[in-house]
Amino acid sequence: MTDAKNTIQFAKRILEVEESPTFALEKKADALDIDLKKEGKSIIRFGIGQPDFHTPANIKEAGKKAIDQNKTKYTASTGIKELKQAVVDKFKNENGLDYSIENILVGNGAKHILDDIMRVLVNSGEKVIIPKPYWVSYSQQVILSEGIPLFVDFKQDLKMDVDHLKSLVRDNDQIKLLILNSPNNPTGAVYSKQEMEQIAKICLDNHIIIIADEVYEKFLFGDARHYSIAALSPQMKQNTITLNAASKTYAMTGWRIGYCAADQKIIAQMTKVHDQSTSNPCSIAQWAAIEALQGSQDSVKAMRDEYERRRDYIYQRISAIEGIKCLNPQGAFYIFPDVSGLFGNGIKDSFDFADRLLEEASVAVVPGGAFGADDYIRISYAASLDKIKEGMNRLQNFCETL
Ligand SMILES: Cc1ncc(COP(=O)(O)O)c(C=O)c1O
Repeated sequence: MTDAKNTIQFAKRILEVEESPTFALEKKADALDIDLKKEGKSIIRFGIGQPDFHTPANIKEAGKKAIDQNKTKYTASTGIKELKQAVVDKFKNENGLDYSIENILVGNGAKHILDDIMRVLVNSGEKVIIPKPYWVSYSQQVILSEGIPLFVDFKQDLKMDVDHLKSLVRDNDQIKLLILNSPNNPTGAVYSKQEMEQIAKICLDNHIIIIADEVYEKFLFGDARHYSIAALSPQMKQNTITLNAASKTYAMTGWRIGYCAADQKIIAQMTKVHDQSTSNPCSIAQWAAIEALQGSQDSVKAMRDEYERRRDYIYQRISAIEGIKCLNPQGAFYIFPDVSGLFGNGIKDSFDFADRLLEEASVAVVPGGAFGADDYIRISYAASLDKIKEGMNRLQNFCETL
C-alpha cells in the first residue's frame, strides 16, 4: 500500500479543533507525578475546573433508588418530564424566568447542550461572539460547527470591552450568537445588571441571540449578585438561551446533567439532534438531578462558604507576591492573576510560565493564553485549603527565583 492510500482524509472541521489545554495539562501532570510519588511528593493541581467535593448524600441516594426501581430504560431524548418540571420551577423561583416544559431541554452536561445549540443555529461561515478571556470549549465548538469565533477584548476588570463589542458588531455581518458567561470561567468576574443591560441592547438591536452560560451562578462571594440576562425583559427572554447544569452546583460533574431554557422553536430543533445522536441523558442521573434541584440546598451553601474561605486566602497570598497583579474574583472557583510582570529570564508567555511552574515547583495551573489572555494564569481553587496553602508556598518560592 502506498503512503497516499494509508493517509486518512479527516474532515477539515475536526483538524481545525484544538486539544483541550486542561486535559493536556492533566496528562503532563500525571506523567510527572509518577516520578514525584516515588520520592513521597506530589503535584499540587490547580488545573481542572472540577469541584473537589463529593456529590451530596441525598442526591447519591436518589440515584441508587432509581437503579433499584429499575429506572434504567431509555427516556425521552430531551429528558423526563419530572426533571423538566423541576427545571421550570428552578428558573421561576431562582431566576425570575417563566417557562413551560416545552421550553426545556436536558442534555449530557452544559457542554453537550452548547454543542446542540451550535449545530442548530450556526451555518458554515456564520459568526459567534465570544468575549475574552473565554472558556476554551466555546471557540472549539463554534469551529466544529464550521462557524467563525469573533473574540471581544477585555478591560482591566477582566470583563468585556463593550466599545470593542460595538465595533465588532458594526464591522461584521453574519453574526448569529454571543456567549455570555457570568460568573465567569476563567476570571471569576460577575456581570452587574447594568452591564448586562448594555450587552442585551446591542444584541437585540442587531438580532444576535445570547447564550447565557450560568453554570457557576451559585458560587458568588461578598455582595456579588447573579442576574439572568433573559429576565431583563420579555424581548430578552425571547432572544436568550439560558444554560445551566447540575455539574458544578451539586458537585455532579461525572453524572452529566445539563439543561437549558429557550424558545420552543429552538428546543424543537435541538430535540432532533438528541433524537439522532445521543438519545437521552443517563436515566439514573436524571432522577438524581431532580433530588438535586428539589431537595435540601444546604450542601450548596456549605460548598459556597468553603469556596469563599479559599478565595479569601488565595487572593491574599497571591496579592502579596511581588510581580503578580490580581483582582479579587466575585464568583466561580477560579482566580486569574496577571503574571506578565515575571516574564523574562526565558519565560516569554503564560505557557512558559505554567510549564516552568509545573516542572520546577510541581504546581499545575492553566496558561491564560489558552483562554485568549496570555499575560495571565488560571488557578482553580477547587482543592482543599491544605493543598492551597502548600501550592501558594510553592508558587511564592518559584516567583522569588525569577
Ligand atoms: C463556563 C463553563 N460552561 C460549561 C461547562 C461545562 O459543564 P458540564 O460539565 O455541565 O458540561 C464548564 C465546565 O468546565 C464551564 O466552565
